[in-house]
Amino acid sequence: MSLRIHNLEEYELAYANSIANPEEFWADIANNFQWEKPWSKVLDWNFTEPKVEWFLDAKLNITVNCLDRHIENNGHQTALIWEPNDPKENTIKFTYKDLLKEVSKMANVLKDLGVKKGDRVCLYMPMVPELSFAVLACARIGAIHSVVFAGFSANSISDRINDCQAGYVITTDALSRGAKQIPVKAVVDEALEMVTCVKKVLVVNRLNWPVHMLEGRDIWYHDIKGIVSEICEPEIMDAQDPLFILYTSGSTGKPKGVVHACGGYMVYAGYTFANVFQYEPNDVFWCTADIGWVTGHTYILYGPLMNASTSLMFEGIPTYPDPGRFWSIIDKHAVNIFYTAPTAIRSLMAAGIDHVLAYGLYSLKTLGSVGEPINVEAWHWYHTHVGKGKCPVIDTWWQTETGGVMISALAGISPLIPAHAGFPLPGIQTVLLNSDGIEIAENDVEGYLAIKFPWPGMLRTTWGDHERCRINYFDTYKGYYFTGDGAKRNSDGQYRILGRVDDVINVSGHRFGTAEIENAINLNKQVIESAVVGYPHDIKGQGIYAFVIPAKMPVDPNVLKDEIIETIVAQIGRIAKPDKIQIVSGLPKTRSGKIMRRILRKIAEGETENLGDTSTLLDPMVVDEIKNGAIK
Ligand code: PRX
Repeated sequence: MSLRIHNLEEYELAYANSIANPEEFWADIANNFQWEKPWSKVLDWNFTEPKVEWFLDAKLNITVNCLDRHIENNGHQTALIWEPNDPKENTIKFTYKDLLKEVSKMANVLKDLGVKKGDRVCLYMPMVPELSFAVLACARIGAIHSVVFAGFSANSISDRINDCQAGYVITTDALSRGAKQIPVKAVVDEALEMVTCVKKVLVVNRLNWPVHMLEGRDIWYHDIKGIVSEICEPEIMDAQDPLFILYTSGSTGKPKGVVHACGGYMVYAGYTFANVFQYEPNDVFWCTADIGWVTGHTYILYGPLMNASTSLMFEGIPTYPDPGRFWSIIDKHAVNIFYTAPTAIRSLMAAGIDHVLAYGLYSLKTLGSVGEPINVEAWHWYHTHVGKGKCPVIDTWWQTETGGVMISALAGISPLIPAHAGFPLPGIQTVLLNSDGIEIAENDVEGYLAIKFPWPGMLRTTWGDHERCRINYFDTYKGYYFTGDGAKRNSDGQYRILGRVDDVINVSGHRFGTAEIENAINLNKQVIESAVVGYPHDIKGQGIYAFVIPAKMPVDPNVLKDEIIETIVAQIGRIAKPDKIQIVSGLPKTRSGKIMRRILRKIAEGETENLGDTSTLLDPMVVDEIKNGAIK
């Protein structure tokens, strides 16, 4: 069997085989990759501990599959196109040969710094080519990369570094984002004041910003990159060795380090890229995500590179220098497959149609969406104005924990219904559960989305705390991986994702735990208690609404609100800024002291009429106060 499915019949056959004989099915897929040593057993698993191991005893290096094995036939093909923030700056293209050389140099630099197999390396960088080199360089030498999105604050970085005890950090002097230049190294310096495990900091020069370099700890990349060898032999990894950690928010206060393993992740990233996007040789593929999120890991780097693709990496933002930037890049590089988030589509919709109509967009053949439910209006706008009615829009549902796409149409193959992710990929046994954890067999139903059989891309643990992994994903519904999402299944069996059913808010495709934001707010000395809920937001999908009880009612609530925002920015980062803060004298609580979030959510949604029974509340009067002061 080859990696690629070509038509609906092949999909149906692959799906049926993958259910009847999962191990045989995945072994056939895995045979398309280069292994140093084959597996002795395809799968060993239980969802109780949980323990999931794929391709036992197999040896590999994922970068051999991303780079070395393409050199003979595709060495001169462009692997990476880097498009800078400022359109006046030059694009840089790297062939597979160039990329292998750059990755090997960065890998040798890391070795020189003392990085060894199994060491954790934190990458806090903007979207510069060196970020790609650094990710792959870690994988080359068997170090575990933990990329932290460059919008997070010093506190968030130090939490993540301390959690995985990273010994090394790679960063840049500064970054450019739209018209702004923002310090990066200075944020790392601040983070490292709260950390003792970091031995070396490697700094890439992006903007010639003056930075403080701590003697003995901080090293400029350009000072040593010229003196290391351009060849670096790949470290041979066990299929179960961790490849990377990526921190993500859950319903508890502290983000958790999702761990992916070398062998399974490789197979799943490669397989899903080939099939979901139906990539053809010489296509230019562009995923607009940041490598700081899982989408960038799997679909800017690993998935495309394993398929010898040309992948575009963009440093900037969709609205700079104007809201036509995405479309101008598509025309400039003749992009064929474009993969972005609903929030970006909605913000560009709001900027007006003229920005799109100014560009031909003739090269496009497939459009993708990821990160949050895409509303029907945005789907049609994307299909009609960007895809000119001729490109399938595929809505890909997945998560940091799943490693790659789980539910999606296969471009040009599967039937499409706007705002529906569609059918699960081969190998993915999706189910809907009712609140008792019982599978709902029929179609035309709604329930909790869970997966009942392992797939190669699934997370293996949460770093340093396996019990947390069990409780978070495998405890709510015994025998299942629980996604935290609710979904509908239509009469044909296609899924429509409804969104999170836990205390996670999805803001512009980024996950935040309500508890995480509340913890940050509560650090403000004037705050006694807070409750955070999500509410529908036209552009971001969900906005953050915070209800805050102060120790004493402030004379000017705006001063307190500004302070709260400052605390959140310092604790988490700019991306977690609440959209609305309401100062209240109390919160609706049950007699046992539990906050009734259902009521707060309704108020935040502007639905103040039908709040249900409030008579059992400790203080029903407080609801009227909150209703009357609600921020529109
Ligand atoms: O709620 C779902 C939503 O994003 C969550 C996963 O977030 P994260 O791990 O940050 O990964 C985002 C990119 C893979 C899911 O639990 N989500 C993701 N894709 C979709 C989606 N919701 C609806 N439709 C999607 N296509």
